Amino acid sequence: MRENLKIGLFGFGCVGGGLYEILNKSNLLDASIKKICIKDPSKDRSIDSSNFTTNKADLLEDDEINLIVELIDDADAAYEIVVEAFKKGKNVVSANKKLIANHFAELKELSEEYGVSFIYEAAVCGSIPILRNLEEYYNNDAISAVYGICNGTTNYILTRLVNENKSFDEVLKNAQELGFAESDPTLDIEGFDSQFKLQILIAHAFGVIVKPEDILRFGITKIQESDIKFAKEKGLRIRLLSRAEKVDDTITGLVAPHFVDEEDATYGVNNEFNAVTVKGLFADKQLFQGKGAGSYPTGSAVLSDVSAVRYNYKYEWRKIKENSLNFNNDFAVKAYISTTEFLALDGIEFLSVEESFIGLDNSYKVGLITREELLRIAESKANVSVVLFQDPIHDGTALNQKLINIQKN
Ligand code: HSE
Repeated sequence: MRENLKIGLFGFGCVGGGLYEILNKSNLLDASIKKICIKDPSKDRSIDSSNFTTNKADLLEDDEINLIVELIDDADAAYEIVVEAFKKGKNVVSANKKLIANHFAELKELSEEYGVSFIYEAAVCGSIPILRNLEEYYNNDAISAVYGICNGTTNYILTRLVNENKSFDEVLKNAQELGFAESDPTLDIEGFDSQFKLQILIAHAFGVIVKPEDILRFGITKIQESDIKFAKEKGLRIRLLSRAEKVDDTITGLVAPHFVDEEDATYGVNNEFNAVTVKGLFADKQLFQGKGAGSYPTGSAVLSDVSAVRYNYKYEWRKIKENSLNFNNDFAVKAYISTTEFLALDGIEFLSVEESFIGLDNSYKVGLITREELLRIAESKANVSVVLFQDPIHDGTALNQKLINIQKN
């Protein structure tokens, strides 16, 4: 049955403003925004001040409002709002990846307990309809991998650093002006945003709920000009990939810059575009591509969720309920590790080395390395950059057994 929606909107920034315009421009939906709750009433806004309040109770206590759309950047404040909304029996649409990734199990259970819709397509890859597809379409085929570019800001920066003679800070500033970056852009450039999105993708693709901080994470801040030159010379490009793979009966996930070649779907994905590949046992690879950040693209995903609430759509989370998989952090991958301080390379332990170079300005090694060693690099302050290859992820237990066998013989 269709519901007539009265929306209480939290946040009127890039995405909230985009949603307001889209809703008013398209007369497609029988939904209207009743009130908008904002933090700072002194800001200049494009619509009349009578639309706004700073008191969240004006929305949460209003019985006529049956849908809360939460588009604020403060994940802690968002948590309070969403939980309160559930308790009042209100449906919630959110784009807050940090909130969802950090409280996944709890918010899922609470929304079920109160029988309300809690959907968040806009939280992962902006305009790309990946979550509902993972929920509804990929229900039978066994998914073996989900990976791709999940952050528009870093992809925009990486694209422009290669094509133009601009500094990192200059390009990041452009990404902020265009409304792609988070209020705190550290979340983008250090890979946290991609980590949150991968947490959500893993839950919907494989039914595994993992703590976001358990996903190995590298951002793009340590990438040097020499790394970009290395990629160019080999006909490769660097892309920040969120990557989840089924290795035997476990799921492995990581976020890191990767070298991609011309054959790879992400090679030609530039600027704020995102792309997610879903690999199924029978369907093989399928690519979803679209704008991953920005006012209208993200607003369009929110609109789609609003429309779905009209039909009482809820995620079933069937894969989570039937899940038999575990998250496994014992793995090894092929990596390129480079540094301006060549002595730092000696302290890094590789399982095997394929290529090694010592130069005046920069030195590097390419080889197989464990997750444990990568974590040590991630946590150290050393000026070391890590770029992975797309070769398969090796299961650590199997690898150790192989090494034991080699030593025995
Ligand atoms: N800061 C995010 C990005 C916004 O750049 O992808 C969309 O989630």
